[in-house]
Amino acid sequence: MTILVTGGAGFIGSNFILDWLSSRDERVINLDKLTYAGNIDNLRDVAQNGLHVLAQGDIGDRKLTDWLLALHRPRAVIHFAAESHVDRSIHGPGDFIQTNIVGTYNLLESVRAYWSELAGGEKNAFRFIHVSTDEVYGSLGDEDPAFTESKTYEPNSPYSASKAASDHLVRAWHHTYGLPVLTTNCSNNYGPYQFPEKLIPLVITNALSGKALPIYGDGMNVRDWLYVGDHCSAIREVLANGRIGETYNIGGWNEMPNIEIVRTICRILDRLRPDPDGPYERLISFVTDRPGHDRRYAIDARKVERELGWRPAETFATGIEKTVSWYLDNPEWVERVRTGDYREWVDRNYSQR
Ligand code: NAD
Ligand code: DAU
Repeated sequence: MTILVTGGAGFIGSNFILDWLSSRDERVINLDKLTYAGNIDNLRDVAQNGLHVLAQGDIGDRKLTDWLLALHRPRAVIHFAAESHVDRSIHGPGDFIQTNIVGTYNLLESVRAYWSELAGGEKNAFRFIHVSTDEVYGSLGDEDPAFTESKTYEPNSPYSASKAASDHLVRAWHHTYGLPVLTTNCSNNYGPYQFPEKLIPLVITNALSGKALPIYGDGMNVRDWLYVGDHCSAIREVLANGRIGETYNIGGWNEMPNIEIVRTICRILDRLRPDPDGPYERLISFVTDRPGHDRRYAIDARKVERELGWRPAETFATGIEKTVSWYLDNPEWVERVRTGDYREWVDRNYSQR
């Protein structure tokens, strides 16, 4: 048996593959373009494992996706590949349109052609899992109820608009062609192997090098934080037992304002790696806000709990402690990702703020 994962060298995809191969003997074909966000270092623990096969390439390359499907005959596709950073989508939306929308369209067409030729049992068992985001639902006010699966789509950034478009394509390919799809809409993930352009790894790695901890606006934007291992267990559950054509919201029941996240990280670092120059909070710096910055996201994850019995295992306290410890224990990984490209991005995003 085989599954095909797209974007498996990125943050969530690599955590998913590592978790998958730690508990089962099922082959994983990993189609990843290895953009700036894809990192084969994330997969070094399975480098010698013959069950992991990396295929470097683009989800938008129809010849390649047709060939991979015909050759490996997966029983499921788990689609993580995307351009994923909101700030980069503001600076340059083109790649987001190309990968998240056109690439997903190509993948759907390729998978549809493959699936329609499968024999009865294999065809019935086949699944396409589309990994999406809570950002498609837009921004909540302080008193608004958390996002349910029936919330209207109101994407506000080029990133979230491109993910919303991909969700609609996936839905239509089910409704029109019967493709057995399931979509997950998840809140902010954090954990090992996250590229330090996102808030939590940026703050940890900047603090350790004595750099400013940039907080957009007033720091009171709220996100619902989910440990990446919990996201991966939810996806496994949706793959195994989810209902075809359904969407499942996945969240951590962990709403927190950004300033509180940053202060928590500073306190953990003060304990685990005290800085002789003083508490890390001294490095906090309020900077110009992100254009169109969504104020609050919150996920109502009762459907996935009710139907599939899934709940997150980690609290924010346990998850963030593991995450900070991982970054402290893996300085070489951090060093290798902070290359010239990364420095160029930091300069582009932060120097004018
Ligand atoms: P990431 O940016 O860390 O990784 C994306 C991966 O996709 C990289 O390995 C990259 O090389 C690959 N990729 C990009 N374009 C590609 C293309 N055209 N063809 C093949 N591979 C390509 O992203 P992530 O944080 O791991 O997110 C994974 C998925 O989960 C995305 O679809 C994202 O929208 C979604 N998501 C992320 C979060 C989060 O908090 N990180 C939350 C909810 C949903
Ligand atoms: O909600 C799910 C989404 O979470 C995913 O779909 C995206 O792929 C993922 O990148 C993430 O989007 P956010 O924009 O919420 O994540 P980010 O880590 O970029 O920012 C988290 C919050 O922190 C947000 O309110 C902006 C703020 N922030 C971010 C950075 C990078 C800062 O205050 N300073 C920063 O330097």
